[in-house]
Parts: sequence; C-alpha cells; structure tokens
Amino acid sequence: MSSRDDTLAASIRAIRDYPKPGIIFRDITTLLGDAKAFRQAVDDLVKPYADMSIAQVAGIEARGFILGGALAHQLSAGFVPIRKKGKLPHETVRVAYSLEYGVDEMEMHVDAVKPGEKVILTDDLIATGGTAEGAVKLLRQMGAEIVSACFVIDLPELGGRKKLEALGVEVRTLIEFE
Ligand code: PRP
Ligand code: ADE
Repeated sequence: MSSRDDTLAASIRAIRDYPKPGIIFRDITTLLGDAKAFRQAVDDLVKPYADMSIAQVAGIEARGFILGGALAHQLSAGFVPIRKKGKLPHETVRVAYSLEYGVDEMEMHVDAVKPGEKVILTDDLIATGGTAEGAVKLLRQMGAEIVSACFVIDLPELGGRKKLEALGVEVRTLIEFE
C-alpha cells in the first residue's frame, strides 16, 4: 500500500465483536468525519471513471449512499439507490442475499436504470460479496451495463472480489484488511 493508502486505512476504526461475536467491524464513520480522508477516498474512487460517460452510480444502503452521492456528483452522473426491502415507494425488483453476518432482501425501482445505461456500483466495503452480487442481479435484470464496482475496503479473505469477477464485473478497491 502507498503512504496515501496507509493514511486512509488509519482513518478507519475497527470495532471487535460487532454486530456479532467474531466480526471485526470496519467503521468508516471516522473516515467520513475526517475531511481530508473523505476527499481522498472519493477522489481515488472516481479517478478511473473520469471521461467514461457513466450515466448512473448505484449505491447500496446505507453506507454506499454516502459514497455514491459524492461519486455521482463528481462524475456528473445520476444516483440509483439500492435499498433494504420495504423502503422504496414505487414498483421494485427484489432479491434475497446473504452477507458476512446475516441475510436480507434488497430492492431497486424498476425504472431506475434504462437498458444499456453505463452504471458503476459502489459501497463502502466488500466482504463475502453477497450484497454486491445481489445488487448486480438487480441492475442486470433491468438491463444496465455494469462498467465496474468500487469499494473503499476489501476483506480479501472473504472472497467477495473473486465472486464479482466471476460474474464478469471489474472490481476496484482502495485498501485491504485481513
Ligand atoms: C455492509 C457493507 C456492505 C455489506 C458487505 O452493509 O456496507 O453493504 O455489509 O458485506 P458482504 O460483502 O459480506 O455482502 P450492512 O448490511 O451492514 O448494512 P448498512 O450499510 O446498512 O450498515
Ligand atoms: N460488512 C460485512 N462485513 C463487514 C465488516 N467486517 N465491517 C463492516 N461492514 C461489513
């Protein structure tokens, strides 16, 4: 990792045994509260996609909303919220998924992306990749072209990056934790 990445990694707090025993929770609220670290994370995530005519940034609730809004603004793209079930008011597509510490369902509005639109998927962290895989299914069901998926944090031992790459999705991450 570069010293820039070390600085970013140092801005993220680790909470042991949250939300369940055995989990080390990577808490990005400390990164978000550090103006320099937040700007660096957004700038580094957005850089590869400049001049790619990205139409939409899809962010996964809840932490993916914070990063996704900033990325969409930087790219002059729209923002698509992918939400936990029951939160979106219009007609939705829904998918069940599992993550490092549970199972849930997520939804996207049926008209949130147009067929063939170039979309970037984002979230704060990829662990098992179950959450991101669910989002990929929803976006593809609506005909989006997923150009890439980007995350601040990768937990490589949990295999999420490989899972997305096996689905044909390019994955970009800034820092890794064991
Ligand atoms: C976290 C994180 C990702 C997901 C990654 O979200 O923000 O969305 O877990 O885990 P996975 O790669 O094993 O699927 P969480 O479900 O805790 O929701 P929150 O952002 O609403 O807290
Ligand atoms: N989502 C899945 N695993 C996580 C972890 N260890 N820390 C924060 N968010 C997560």
